[in-house]
Amino acid sequence: KKDTCILAIETSCDETAAAIVKNGTELLANVVASQIESHKRFGGVVPEIASRHHVEAITDVISEAFSQSGLEWDDIDAIAVTEGPGLVGALLIGVSAAKALSFAKKKPLIGVHHIAGHIYANRLIEEFEFPLLALIVSGGHTELVLMKGHGEFEVIGQTRDDACGEAYDKVARMLSLPYPGGPHIDRLAADGEETIEFPRAYLEEGSFDFSFSGLKSAVINTIHNAKQRGKELKDEDIAASFQASVVEVLVEKTFKAAKQYNVKEVIVAGGVAANKGLRNKLAERFENSGIPLHFPPIHLCTDNAAMIGAAAHIAYEQGRRHGMDLNANPGLEL
Ligand code: KG4
Ligand code: ZN
Repeated sequence: KKDTCILAIETSCDETAAAIVKNGTELLANVVASQIESHKRFGGVVPEIASRHHVEAITDVISEAFSQSGLEWDDIDAIAVTEGPGLVGALLIGVSAAKALSFAKKKPLIGVHHIAGHIYANRLIEEFEFPLLALIVSGGHTELVLMKGHGEFEVIGQTRDDACGEAYDKVARMLSLPYPGGPHIDRLAADGEETIEFPRAYLEEGSFDFSFSGLKSAVINTIHNAKQRGKELKDEDIAASFQASVVEVLVEKTFKAAKQYNVKEVIVAGGVAANKGLRNKLAERFENSGIPLHFPPIHLCTDNAAMIGAAAHIAYEQGRRHGMDLNANPGLEL
């Protein structure tokens, strides 16, 4: 059987990325141009700036993917692009580039859901075993997704307010840490102790939903009260206590869902999957459970186009194609 090579593009937030993926599992090129430096001084992603940077970077990033892989247009079977969710102006750059190239080079076009991409980052490492449970924790999402087969996604739990990474970034901001704050909190937490008892949001019995806004408020109040009373709180301890609260709920809900749905494996995806505290506690919880637990390598946890190419391969095999009416959809459902 002939090999299938997919050129994938991802521009949903603040990384301009292109990749070439062979047969859904083999990474031939993976280029990520990060804009973090441009957004840092604003303490978060500025949509207008993100769009402008995507326009500037997109052609270079795609050319770089071709030179990394050594492939030519003749070798490409399809063009995949993140169609949503994300920032509409940012998504539009990737979608427009993919449509233009699809038209000019006469290649089929495949729109991909960003979260499907995060999940499929794992398939670049290992073949999936169904049913599987995916925990997606990123700057925009916190979801538990049950998959009974390729391309079949059932959301069994999700955040009711802030995303997990968003909570990390907001707490980091309170501690005057640079954007994105998740990795900084992670590092501080390793040197701190859980001296503060923050709330754990388990919600109703049996629910696999998440909530992080109460925890965020608890952290703000704790910092304010300590300041008023002239009490010294170590940033390391705030970070460790916050992280312990987040991680405990993520771990317990994931474990419970894995048991309830009798899954063959659990995979973790998204930017916060890079978190050391989460990795350690999940590994501890699933040890001796008989349920294998997989994480993508760190560089495939945060936004990239390799994961979009991996997810698109399944759509390609299933014959799913998009037309020139493909549009950026910031609220796209999985
Ligand atoms: O998946 P991602 O790159 O972008 C989205 O699709 O949102 O995730 C970015 C998020 C940011 O909120 C960042 O702070 C968080 O992932 N993050 C981390 C760590 N590394 C990245 N959060 C906690 N610990 C980390 N080590
Ligand atoms: Zn993402």
